[in-house]
Amino acid sequence: MKGKKIILGITGSIAAYKAAYLVRAFIKKGAEVQVVITPAGKEFITPVTLSALTGKPVISEFFTANDGTWHSHVDLGLWADAMVIAPATASTIGKMANGIADNMLITTYLSAKAPVFIAPAMDLDMFAHPTTQHNLDLLRSYGNHIIEPGVGELASHLEGKGRMEEPDKIVEVLERFLASRCDLAGKKIVVTAGPTYEKIDPVRFIGNYSSGKMGFALAEECAERGADVVLIAGPVSQKTVHRSIRRIDVESAREMYDVALSEYPTADAAIMCAAVADYAPEHYSDMKIKRSSDDMILRLRPNPDIAAALGKMKRDNQVLAGFALETDHEEEHALSKMKRKNLDFIVLNSLKDEGAGFRCDTNKVTILKSDGEQIPFDMKPKKEVAADIVSVLGKYLK
Ligand code: PMT
Repeated sequence: MKGKKIILGITGSIAAYKAAYLVRAFIKKGAEVQVVITPAGKEFITPVTLSALTGKPVISEFFTANDGTWHSHVDLGLWADAMVIAPATASTIGKMANGIADNMLITTYLSAKAPVFIAPAMDLDMFAHPTTQHNLDLLRSYGNHIIEPGVGELASHLEGKGRMEEPDKIVEVLERFLASRCDLAGKKIVVTAGPTYEKIDPVRFIGNYSSGKMGFALAEECAERGADVVLIAGPVSQKTVHRSIRRIDVESAREMYDVALSEYPTADAAIMCAAVADYAPEHYSDMKIKRSSDDMILRLRPNPDIAAALGKMKRDNQVLAGFALETDHEEEHALSKMKRKNLDFIVLNSLKDEGAGFRCDTNKVTILKSDGEQIPFDMKPKKEVAADIVSVLGKYLK
């Protein structure tokens, strides 16, 4: 963080007192901090405290009252390496999402070219309200980073989700982001995600439980680190956020295979996270198959193995990573897949670990490398698992 310029936006929440700790933590790490505070924010923490900590006057209005100095939100927005809004109230979040630029903080936000981090702080029902969630989704879709609030006792004495994340954690998020954000610049990375659906008739298919969460987290992480990402997604309801992600939606393994084979030759790496159906019905019925009292036999044929096909065409300067979702003899099966598909490393997750694998927001993985090294990780949110995996990938691409 040494030498990084950070705008800290403070709004009218009781959590504003934590902003003083946040300023101190940023400064201790060597960052330069400019505080921009809303009029309501000043009711909760005094500008004198903040300017004493930052060594800079706190900006709140477009003009300084006594000498009429104009503060250029445009210059300020361009000055920063990162903008952090902590605490961010429901009102500020709503204004940011809808471009209501009626104070210095929102105009600075709209002018900022730097990545923006938003740490909401509010009562649990305000946070859970569909309007707040919709506004946060909008802000995410514009590429902003939401630092989720914690769960615990709130200023109202109610218990729930809405506490602003602790200052040390916010600093950690920024530190990790700033340190890693450019290590994949100029690289093209293909990521497969989600399940594939293999049609039986117009109303039925063979599929699996993959939600796409793991693959989408990988795509976001690669994009945040500067890569151009091609995300080949099976049928999922996940959203992509980052502008550097080109998303190609597919349904079947055959469609995923065709796109992957056309994208990989110009890529530096591919991460095969999709849960691809190994078999598809031999025949597709145009008409809905009618129920009868007889047994029904569905004949399946094997789908192409996408990872193995990429493994065959892989050049020396390309990296190929796969996943293995296992239920037994985990290491043995994962190692055999890595070899068979000519992968550089494979990410093993096991359904024996509760909270790992399909659908959940967490995962527990071990990375097995083709040189024999094994790197185990703890159970973590999928976003952090993605960061671990992409860090390993980044070392291959150096
Ligand atoms: O989407 P989520 O709900 O977040 O769940 C994440 C996940 C469990 C799907 C993910 O972590 C994961 O483990 N993905 C791979 C699951 C899987 O199907 O593994 P596999 O052992 O069947 O396949 C091994 C590798 O070959 C995988 O990289 C797979 O993408 C690839 N493969 C498999 C079959 C096939 N026909 N083509 C392939 O490319």
